[in-house]
Amino acid sequence: MTETAIAVQLEDVRFSYGRGPVVIDVPSLRLEAGTRTFLHGPSGSGKTTLLGILAGVLRADSGAVRVLGEDLTSMSGARRDAFRARHIGYVFQMFNLIPYLSVLENIILPVRMNAERRGRIRASNPAEEARRLAAALEIDHALGSAVGALSVGQQQRVAACRALIGSPELIIADEPTSSLDHDRRDAFLELLLEACEGAGSTLVFVSHDRTLAAHFEQEVSLGESNRAGEVAA
Ligand SMILES: Nc1ncnc2c1ncn2[C@@H]1O[C@H](COP(=O)(O)OP(=O)(O)OP(=O)(O)O)[C@@H](O)[C@H]1O
Ligand SMILES: [Mg+2]
Repeated sequence: MTETAIAVQLEDVRFSYGRGPVVIDVPSLRLEAGTRTFLHGPSGSGKTTLLGILAGVLRADSGAVRVLGEDLTSMSGARRDAFRARHIGYVFQMFNLIPYLSVLENIILPVRMNAERRGRIRASNPAEEARRLAAALEIDHALGSAVGALSVGQQQRVAACRALIGSPELIIADEPTSSLDHDRRDAFLELLLEACEGAGSTLVFVSHDRTLAAHFEQEVSLGESNRAGEVAA
């Protein structure tokens, strides 16, 4: 490790969906390990797309994408999936919960799939850890329920617990509080920031709610960092 480890480094990254227009054109983005970044920008400026590139869900068409010291552009889709399972907790904007699994099963899925993350849980076993996280967000009463039977805000809290279990080194959260009331939003932020601090995780957090920016060390405006977004906006 160098003195300041870099968790995320993008150079000249461009991305289009299929044959569509360029939606990401980012000359440079560098996030130090262990830092908390608030990413904002107008709707359609490419926030979700950029997070997808960082997490290896999407592959940049050109440029360099280094995440936790690994070059994602040179990895196959299967290797990027394995990398994400091991190192990244992702709260998707659309949640991406598994509808036929219970709340508990959804939360513990990342640690079932990955021994390294299982080894980092704080409680004695995955179910206990899921209960701890769910209790902090007041959904522990629903652990046995089918996720489809939950309200949107409850599903968002399940997605948040799933991203945090097993203390991933990089946590990516795409509008994770959009469906939460004020108290639940604050409880989630507290849990998230405490989890990042405890594990030294790097956090990239997207929200339209600029009042949340005060909780973060740095702000990145995609309207400014993304040349394609500027053109579109
Ligand atoms: N699956 C897709 N196929 C084709 N184009 C897409 C797809 N997803 C997003 N886009 C386009 O890429 C651009 C950036 O979209 P993106 O979802 O990254 O924006 P965003 O900043 O996350 O917006 P929001 O704040 O509304 O979530 C938009 O012009 C959008 O139409
Ligand atoms: Mg989005």
